[in-house]
Amino acid sequence: MGAPVAKDQELELTVDSLAYGGNGVARLNGFVVFVRRGLPGDRVRARVTKVKRNHAEALATEVLEPSAERVDAPCSHYPACGGCRFQDLAYEAQIAAKEAQVADALRRLGGVAEPPLEPILPAVERFHYRNKLEYSFTPGPEGPILGFHKAGRWDEVLDIERCWLTTELGNAIREAVRAWAREENLPAYDQAEGTGYLRHLVVREGRNSGQALVELVTAPGERFERGYLVEVLRRFPEVRSIHWAVNDTPAEVTNLPTTLLFGDDAIEEELLGLRFRVRPNAFLQTNTAMAERLYELALDAAGLTGGETVYDLYCGIGTIGLVMAAQALTVWGVDVSEESVACALENAELNGIGNAAFFAGNVGQALEDLRERAGPPDVVVVDPPRAGLAGKALRRVGETGVPRLVYVSCNPTTLAGDLKRLAADYGYRLERARPVDMFPHTPHVETVALLSRS
Ligand SMILES: C[S@@+](CC[C@H](N)C(=O)[O-])C[C@H]1O[C@@H](n2cnc3c(N)ncnc32)[C@H](O)[C@@H]1O
Repeated sequence: MGAPVAKDQELELTVDSLAYGGNGVARLNGFVVFVRRGLPGDRVRARVTKVKRNHAEALATEVLEPSAERVDAPCSHYPACGGCRFQDLAYEAQIAAKEAQVADALRRLGGVAEPPLEPILPAVERFHYRNKLEYSFTPGPEGPILGFHKAGRWDEVLDIERCWLTTELGNAIREAVRAWAREENLPAYDQAEGTGYLRHLVVREGRNSGQALVELVTAPGERFERGYLVEVLRRFPEVRSIHWAVNDTPAEVTNLPTTLLFGDDAIEEELLGLRFRVRPNAFLQTNTAMAERLYELALDAAGLTGGETVYDLYCGIGTIGLVMAAQALTVWGVDVSEESVACALENAELNGIGNAAFFAGNVGQALEDLRERAGPPDVVVVDPPRAGLAGKALRRVGETGVPRLVYVSCNPTTLAGDLKRLAADYGYRLERARPVDMFPHTPHVETVALLSRS
């Protein structure tokens, strides 16, 4: 039987829940319709945008009866801005939806009939929680526009006046850079035409250290006066590190080699009493306060007693491993980013930690070498990107046979798929899992899961 709806058809739907990724879920005589911009409890008019055999996608064009859980979004750029999806959904409803998504993924994709799920840990701060933001430049009638892409648009950028996810300082730095660009008559890069100069601005803040790092990304050529940009940015005493990167490709990337224009090449951040050096391209969890909570949960799940060999896989700048080092015999970290590993080594030294070593490599390939060097692990912590334990990584992790596996996940669907394979192929059992809300108003949810194998 074909789908009961057609493309461009207008429907009236009641949204029941939120699917992972942020779309509302509605049912038309049992047939699932994912409704973009529909919130749980809304009755909406929606236009069908895509039809598949088992479900359709639609865009809410009008809210006919608003959900009782709708609230006023504080940000004047909402909902045009693509940064936040749920500012108009009560926070309690946001976290309930995220918790339900993790439970659903574990049941449906993980094959765990009754997931041992602990209640979601809410965010410490609902706004102003991000320690890093990347802005795009685009040409505007009065000079460069500097802000975020409009929701769903790669080719349109919204001029942001005040972002509710960053701090007053973060907002002030962005405003100063836009004013500088206009004063200096520098043209913004036009992504569609491939012309112009200013491309991106990255601002990172050490929220516990009070230090800030700024990176300007341009097209090739030195078309600005370095000294004046530095002068403008040094009006903020927090700015300790200013970098310039050149992007000579059409791709919108900021992860590029940089030239240091001012200060130290890294800033420092403090997490759980340890100091961490953060370079422009190194990974750092973007919600500092919740990163500390996340690491406390991982530490608790690891159940260390002082005698363990711990592998910290996908270690970034070594945060999890270094937090665990005081309670372990040895810690061995692996990350594919050489820059992150350089930071991790530096961070071990900075904190006087002598029982942690870090290596650059792909987890799928580096694990055999690591076992030869470090011996078998007692605890493995994995914190992979959204794709989960991709490639050979899952097999290699399963083959370690480690009795205690702590899985820090930023995507419950890949977590669930990986758990299923770890259970079926390597005998692991999910002991417990706790969702964590690191990113209010967005669809993202982290989970700390403990797996064991007897
Ligand atoms: C979610 S981050 C976690 C970093 C760190 N654990 C933390 O909490 O800050 C994922 C990390 O995986 C690294 N990565 C991605 N693919 C990898 C791979 N195949 N092998 C090793 N590391 C990888 C990235 O460079 C990044 O640092």
